[in-house]
Amino acid sequence: MKTNDYSQWFRGSTPYISAHRGKTFVVYLGGDALAHPNITNIVHDLALLHVLGVHLVLVHGGRPQLDAALPGSASHAHRRITQPEHMDTVTGVYGLLRSQLEGLFSTGLPNTPLHNVDISVVSGNFVTAKPLGVLDGVDHLFTGQLRNLDNTRVQRLLDANNIVLQSPLGFSSSGQAFNLASEELAADISIALQADKVIFFDETEHLNAADGQRESTVTPSSVEDHFGALSATTAQRFSAMARAVRAGVTKAHQISFATDGGLLQELFTADGAGTQIIEEKAQPVRAAKLDDVGDIVEIIRPLEESGALLRRSRDRLEQEIEHFMVAEVDGVTVGCCAVYLHGEQAELACVAVSDLYRRGSAGVAIGANLLLAAEQHAMQVGATGLFVLTTQTQDWFEERGFQGGDVNDLPETKQSLYNWQRGSKVLFKSLG
Ligand SMILES: CC(C)(COP(=O)(O)OP(=O)(O)OC[C@H]1O[C@@H](n2cnc3c(N)ncnc32)[C@H](O)[C@@H]1OP(=O)(O)O)[C@@H](O)C(=O)NCCC(=O)NCCS
Repeated sequence: MKTNDYSQWFRGSTPYISAHRGKTFVVYLGGDALAHPNITNIVHDLALLHVLGVHLVLVHGGRPQLDAALPGSASHAHRRITQPEHMDTVTGVYGLLRSQLEGLFSTGLPNTPLHNVDISVVSGNFVTAKPLGVLDGVDHLFTGQLRNLDNTRVQRLLDANNIVLQSPLGFSSSGQAFNLASEELAADISIALQADKVIFFDETEHLNAADGQRESTVTPSSVEDHFGALSATTAQRFSAMARAVRAGVTKAHQISFATDGGLLQELFTADGAGTQIIEEKAQPVRAAKLDDVGDIVEIIRPLEESGALLRRSRDRLEQEIEHFMVAEVDGVTVGCCAVYLHGEQAELACVAVSDLYRRGSAGVAIGANLLLAAEQHAMQVGATGLFVLTTQTQDWFEERGFQGGDVNDLPETKQSLYNWQRGSKVLFKSLG
């Protein structure tokens, strides 16, 4: 990467750094990811997230390692059936994997990313388990599922700057250990914590659409259409992620464990690298606050420079902030618009979407959402029509119901201020 590209990338990550700080991410690392040479880089990237203030709960798996240690052990619907006599091997394999991960977080040799970074990784008896029981007539014996997570204790450890590491084991109230399906455990923990994200590493890079293009965003329902084309393990992971999102986890991400930097690309760039699952709902558009002025300036400055928007000073933005609305994606402000009432007509102005988020690149049409929110707001304050003055975006408004009009049709207060030199087109839309 050239120095210039590097600075640009780093600068571009600023909104994500502040959006992710203090958020809780549950990260799933299967046995396949742990066995991959890229695991060292993944650990370094997780350490970076931790240093940036993300609360991390790691859940590891160990399927290939257990397959090797327990050849021929039976499974049902892709879940291992754990015989009582297997439990020592299961706890032994998980113990080894856990200490390998702890070791990776502890390497601090000079010239490595973790030099001088002390990271505390804590494990414990946070998971109470219960047997999975008999499913489809098959007794799953010592294979169990989460019964309860000690949320308070996990939360306290996260607040005290620890990474929480959970093996796929849980204990019943009699102290019996159960072997848990690790994907399901990661989803259950993310639901119990109402995490902001659950992130799964998998061998696949992302989901593909029918035309072979990457699907960067899917919904919990549409993800099921892909299951036929996926391996049983990958489908199980997507199914766990979809369940988590349905149960209130804000977002799930699938990232390849083989791609160096995949996690950072997914979390700190608008394009991402893998596939994210979000509930199909409009991204919020809300009334702007004084704190939003900085973000609004960032969005509109380049557009003022290109002449698409009229220049507004920071002072003016602060004075007029009550007229502004902002659109957010994942807590990052990505668009704005303003509505001014002139009698029965409302003026829509300063409609702008950050260029990284245009054309629905984040899975939602931000511009369309802003327009809808502006129309609703204008109606609420009593306007019967909306008008806009634009030099470069006439088609976009016309495709959304606006019609060309004349300067004389503008409210008088606005007519007197019309800038003939700028020559903006005047467009109208009736409301209601
Ligand atoms: C206009 C704007 C707000 C649209 O934001 P957005 O989030 O991309 O909007 P949507 O996703 O709802 O719509 C995207 C569609 O509009 C089209 N579009 C974007 N700008 C356009 C323009 N100037 N003229 C015509 N169509 C345009 C895109 O090509 C895309 O079409 P597609 O779906 O066929 O690919 C955004 O492009 C922007 O900030 N432009 C610069 C500022 C501006 O001109 N504002 C209006 C002055 S008040």
